[in-house]
Amino acid sequence: MNVEIRYYSKGGNTRAAAETIAKLFAVTAQPIDIALQTHADILFVGSGCYEGKPSTETIEFLQNINASNVSLLVAFGTAGGMKKAVKQIANTAKSNGINVYKKLLVLRMFKSGAKQLEKNNGQLSDRKQNKIKKFVEKLKQDKIG
Ligand SMILES: Cc1cc2nc3c(=O)[nH]c(=O)nc-3n(C[C@H](O)[C@H](O)[C@H](O)COP(=O)(O)O)c2cc1C
Repeated sequence: MNVEIRYYSKGGNTRAAAETIAKLFAVTAQPIDIALQTHADILFVGSGCYEGKPSTETIEFLQNINASNVSLLVAFGTAGGMKKAVKQIANTAKSNGINVYKKLLVLRMFKSGAKQLEKNNGQLSDRKQNKIKKFVEKLKQDKIG
C-alpha cells in the first residue's frame, strides 16, 4: 500500500501533525510543493488555517492532481479553532473527482507553531498524538475492513 503525505505549514504545527501521521505508516511526509510521482492508495493532504482557508499552494496542489492517481484522499489540518480550512481541502479534492475519506482530522491549536511546539521539544502534545493515532486506526479499519 503506497501512502503519501503532503502538507503546508507556516509555523510548524501542521508539519508536526504530518510527521506524526508519517511515523504511523513508516513513510516520509513531504511539503506541498513536491508533486505526486506515483499512484497513492492513500494521500493525506494538510494545511494550517489562515484567515479561514488552507494555503493557496494547498488548493493548487489539489486542483493539479489527476484523480485516477489517488484511491483515497484524507484531509487534515491544524487551526486556532476552525474546521473550515480542512473542509475546503476535502471539497476541493471532491470537485476534482477525487474519492475523499468521510472523516476529517482537525487539530485545534491555541498558538502558532513555534509557541505551541517549543514547550514540547518541537512535537505535538501526547493528547494530540493520541488523537492522530486513533484517527489512523479507524482509517485503517475502514479502508482495509
Ligand atoms: C496569518 C494567520 C491566520 C490565521 N487564521 C486563522 C483562522 O482564520 N482561523 C483559525 O482557526 N486559525 C487561524 N490561525 C491559526 C492557525 O491556523 C494555527 O496556528 C495553525 O496551527 C497554523 O498551522 P502551521 O503552524 O502549520 O502554520 C491563523 C494563523 C495565522 C498565522
